[in-house]
Amino acid sequence: MSVKPTVLKLGGSVVTDKEKTLTPNLQAIERLANEISRANVSHLVLVHGGGSFGHPVAEQYGLAEGYKDSSQIIGFSKTRQAMTKLNKLIVDFLISHNIPAVEVQPSSCVVTKAGRIQTMEDRPLRKMLEMGFVPVLYGDVVLDSEAGFAILSGDQLVSSLAINLDARRIVVGVDVNGLYTGDPKTDSSARLIQHITLEELKNLEPLIEGSKVTDVTGGMLGKMFELKPAVEHGIQTIIVNATELNRVYKALKGEKVVGTIIER
Ligand SMILES: Nc1ncnc2c1ncn2[C@@H]1O[C@H](COP(=O)(O)OP(=O)(O)OP(=O)(O)O)[C@@H](O)[C@H]1O
Ligand SMILES: [Mg+2]
Repeated sequence: MSVKPTVLKLGGSVVTDKEKTLTPNLQAIERLANEISRANVSHLVLVHGGGSFGHPVAEQYGLAEGYKDSSQIIGFSKTRQAMTKLNKLIVDFLISHNIPAVEVQPSSCVVTKAGRIQTMEDRPLRKMLEMGFVPVLYGDVVLDSEAGFAILSGDQLVSSLAINLDARRIVVGVDVNGLYTGDPKTDSSARLIQHITLEELKNLEPLIEGSKVTDVTGGMLGKMFELKPAVEHGIQTIIVNATELNRVYKALKGEKVVGTIIER
């Protein structure tokens, strides 16, 4: 690809209200569609999280543990249904801001093995980018060659796509200002880390926590684990607060912004 793509993750913590089942944050989605439109990045791939759409249904049916019995089958469909609803909302807002967004359904193009991406049919996605479309993927339930099915987190998808497409930048939007020395929602002494190397991250890991709300993919700890290979690959990675105005815009533009830069 002539232009290196940018991969933007919109956390489920931003595009939904994680405390309320199946509740989108329409204001946030509308504002972010506006920021993405203004940033006008060429070759943009968008990935959004599950938030209160994917996670609760997946948990109810124990999908993260893989296929155990036939009662989970309908749970797979319901999780997909919930994610499709959220995706449609996001794509609708993007299109209303004149962004040529096209849904790419992960469960139709990815097979995992023990929860890790094994194969991904990415030819349509590459062609979309070439032609100027903005593919929109999301954390999803997918078929797994060993476990029957698995949860593919938006974070794993972001990292894998960024590496395969040789992205120039990853922007991860969450509902806090970046990576802290502890969970800022429960630890008032937690400090924002503006810059961290992979080596420094190793020492910090015991302090990073999962998620207080339903998150079958491990919250912030899971996110850092997934982002590591992309950082290792040399891709500039920044975590910003996507609930605050213009943080995503600035990060997409490569401007200085409050957040956490992760570097090799
Ligand atoms: N050390 C830490 N620094 C920053 N946030 C942390 C830390 N430890 C835990 N967290 C929590 O992680 C949350 C973000 O992760 P979470 O998985 O809930 O959101 P998300 O990835 O945006 O959602 P989704 O998985 O649905 O896409 C923050 O809301 C914060 O409370
Ligand atoms: Mg998460």
